[in-house]
Amino acid sequence: MASSYADVFARSIDDPNGFWLDAASSVDWITPPSRALDDSAAPIYRWFPDATLNTSANALDRHVAAGRGDRPALIWDSAMTGEQRTFSYAELLDEVARFAGVLTAHGVTKGDRVIVYMPMIPEAAVAMLACARIGAVHSVVFGGFAAPELATRIDDARPVAIVTASGGLEPGRTVEYLPMVRDALALSESAPATVIVKDRPQITGSAADFGWLDWDDQTASAQAADPVEVSATDPLYILYTSGTTGKPKGVVRDNGGHAVALMWSMRNVYDVDPDDVWWTASDVGWVVGHSYIVYGPLLLGATTVMYEGKPVGTPDAGAFWRVIAEHGVSALFTAPTAIRAIRKADPEAAELAKYDMSSFSTLFAAGERLDPDTFAWATDKLGVPVVDHWWQTETGWAIVANLRGLEPMPLKPGTATVPVPGYDVQVLDAEGGRLGPNAEGNIVVKLPMPPGTLAGLWGDEARFRSSYLNAFPGYYLTGDSGYIDDGGYVFVLGRSDDVINVAGHRLSTGSIEAVVAAHPAVAECAVVGIHDDLKGQRPSGYVVLKAGADIAEEQLRSELVTMVRDEIGAVATFRDVTVVQGLPKTRSGKILRKTMRQIVDGEEYAVPSTIEDPAVLEALAEQLGR
Ligand code: COA
Ligand code: AMP
Repeated sequence: MASSYADVFARSIDDPNGFWLDAASSVDWITPPSRALDDSAAPIYRWFPDATLNTSANALDRHVAAGRGDRPALIWDSAMTGEQRTFSYAELLDEVARFAGVLTAHGVTKGDRVIVYMPMIPEAAVAMLACARIGAVHSVVFGGFAAPELATRIDDARPVAIVTASGGLEPGRTVEYLPMVRDALALSESAPATVIVKDRPQITGSAADFGWLDWDDQTASAQAADPVEVSATDPLYILYTSGTTGKPKGVVRDNGGHAVALMWSMRNVYDVDPDDVWWTASDVGWVVGHSYIVYGPLLLGATTVMYEGKPVGTPDAGAFWRVIAEHGVSALFTAPTAIRAIRKADPEAAELAKYDMSSFSTLFAAGERLDPDTFAWATDKLGVPVVDHWWQTETGWAIVANLRGLEPMPLKPGTATVPVPGYDVQVLDAEGGRLGPNAEGNIVVKLPMPPGTLAGLWGDEARFRSSYLNAFPGYYLTGDSGYIDDGGYVFVLGRSDDVINVAGHRLSTGSIEAVVAAHPAVAECAVVGIHDDLKGQRPSGYVVLKAGADIAEEQLRSELVTMVRDEIGAVATFRDVTVVQGLPKTRSGKILRKTMRQIVDGEEYAVPSTIEDPAVLEALAEQLGR
């Protein structure tokens, strides 16, 4: 008899050890685990402490060994170049083993870090899996980040090698990566000696121009490397994400818990079968790309689609439907922004009629809130379940979802449905008191979190504790606020900190503020995430000029936009600058960003009792037209 959600959830919370030990049988271990949970250092937990495995062997070798070597593992579809390439499991294994050999030949060994700064080309996935094969720790940096952001990550991870490509392709322009890598290395205090470059014909710069190693030359003569045995608790990767300060947080993922959790999620959350073609339209630079372009589908032995392109304009709003039809995709996972972009360009979804969508069964959305309008539009036009689910870089997989493979539940607008087994989701008030149904507060997860969630922050246990564990002892602080309704459905309303979400990309207002504040005319500033019809939110800057500063507002705007683009990257999409007389603050000097956002978005707002000078707020509200 199939188990119900309620039973499975209850067991996962009451007996996490037994629950996850059972789930661990989906992984090929070198030394199988004798127990699942290690709580000896609580509130920091470890999973499968006595087990060993290799993640790359689980994603590749075991499927080939099982006779599925001819099955397509990865289909690369570039709407930017018109190219398509399919790698069978045997071919992908060969590429990965040879690139692992290249890394080994350049002295990369178990535990070493490797930065991967690449566009959406198959070599990005190959580089990640090659690191995993030799026990090296990859840290993928999104291609939309500029040199200083790359340098910050290099200095934190202290890599022994950087793997990159000559560039990326954005609509209407090429992005030359190599000058950015050069600048990042110059800025960095831990510049590695080895840089390996995949040259692309569309890009001007090449490995040779910079005296770096050429991917093709290196792999042509490489010896294939065998998988290395690592502990389940050894790090698989570091992925930097935005916190509330300018310094990104290096989220550490382990090997064993990650493999178990992703395998469990592929079947229970997404209902994917090894014979399915699965497509996540994201980027390997984000957690969604790590978990569901690369590791999840390959661990399961399914076919994953890797897409280089946009939902619209490459060439039109039918791009996603074309990929689904051409490759027989059964489920697509994307960010709500992509759906909004398609809807804006093609409100009646006329493009859909051009494609055979018969393979398509489910649309998954995450990365930002799925607004009810977009949910309704997609449900109506696609005629398949549109499934919101909520998670974060830190958790690596869904915290709240509608579990399509376990027990599909009625889909409701505005909610990602129910807590995923393993996650004891609760809502607490500011003092840590547990709130009842429908009361809004801080969304937390009672510890321990399930396998696959962050093992810590790279090299900074104190920050791990202060960011996530100290606010409410015994709970993980998600940073999101929301409520749980009478039926147990979880509604995530937004961040309760200064993290913003622009087109599904997580950004820190603090890091943008740091750049804006460095302008010589700026006395102080606040960057606030305001509502944007397409991208969900966008950063909007409010600056107070230094006394005597003589600069036209438009000139200031243009200089600040350029500075943010050069320091953080195009992905910050910083375009709005407003000069104001003062910033509203609390008596302790904290800028009232939430109140500012409410004013700009035209929402009701309460004047906080801790306000320093109500007149500043009144003047701001008047200036901003509220
Ligand atoms: N490398 C270099 N630059 C990049 C980049 C990358 N990998 N990705 C984005 N950029 C640049 C863009 O070219 C753009 O530059 P511009 O200011 O010169 O135009 C800027 O960063 C902002 O990009 P984006 O926010 O993506 O806006 P857009 O207008 O180019 O595209 C959408 C709008 C809706 C099509 C796009 O945001 C999208 O596809 N969103 C889906 C979100 C998604 O997949 N999120 C992943 C997390 S799940
Ligand atoms: P990231 O770490 O980049 O995946 O961003 C995580 C943050 O994005 C979360 O903390 C939420 O604020 C937001 N988010 C992601 N998915 C959802 C969702 N389905 N609904 C609401 N917010 C979401």
